[in-house]
Amino acid sequence: MAFLDKHKAIETHATLLMVLSLLVVTIGGIVQIVPLFYLENTIEKVEGVRPYTPLELAGREIYLREGCYGCHSQMIRPMRDEVERYGHYSLAAESMYDRPFQWGSKRTGPDLARVGGRYSDEWHQDHFENAKSVVPESVMPPYGFLADRPLDGKFIADLVATHRMTGVPYTDDMVANARADFAVQADPLEDSGGLEDRYGEDVFGTVVNVRNFDGRPELTEMDALIAYIQVLGTMVDFSTFTPVANR
Ligand code: HEC
Repeated sequence: MAFLDKHKAIETHATLLMVLSLLVVTIGGIVQIVPLFYLENTIEKVEGVRPYTPLELAGREIYLREGCYGCHSQMIRPMRDEVERYGHYSLAAESMYDRPFQWGSKRTGPDLARVGGRYSDEWHQDHFENAKSVVPESVMPPYGFLADRPLDGKFIADLVATHRMTGVPYTDDMVANARADFAVQADPLEDSGGLEDRYGEDVFGTVVNVRNFDGRPELTEMDALIAYIQVLGTMVDFSTFTPVANR
């Protein structure tokens, strides 16, 4: 057949085959990728997502350093079993200030995208100290040493400024007061008005947890890590959220 003869011409001509393959792949790629730039629900605009407070950001650094990512994903996929187990599926906007994101696919332990507020701080202290004390079959390693490592926030303004460089909308005010905000969030006896003015409910619609997260007088890495864990997945109010597709 004439058609097959023409095809033979392509298949026996390496350069032509390469050029035409490239063309087909390019068109296919454009068809797949371009609509994502125009669809409204690629990154849905949501209310409540705010940049991490300095203490939460420090906790996030500890999370990265300790490799929690190696056993825990932070992305709930829109499938029924996941949504029933972990809660509303993750939205892209929820990790828009994550540098780098922690989505992942490795789950030796459960997904942590919505673990914030699920357990008390005391539960986390016990769990980090010795996971088997609260979940007897756990294989999670101990992290009790974090409570013995004081944090003074010496570099916290630099950390906030670095995240601003990568596009997180921290203001000059937030950078300038980073160290004070950092300390005050773990100390319920201090006046946290400044922290609230910068990150609080009136500005972003999301409550900032202010308390002594590790229950010890000193500000430690454990405070920072628990502050971070307790905010995960709590910024968007899913009782009032409707996906773009259902509006
Ligand atoms: C070797 C794998 C491993 C590593 C590394 C690990 N975890 Fe886990 N984690 C688990 C397992 C397994 C569970 C489930 C059993 C349990 O609750 O202890 C778990 C449970 C948890 C839970 C409770 C989640 C829930 O919904 O019940 C939290 C919170 C948690 N891990 C935080 C962390 C943090 C933070 C780090 C890093 C400092 C970390 N994990 C590192 C394996 C790991």
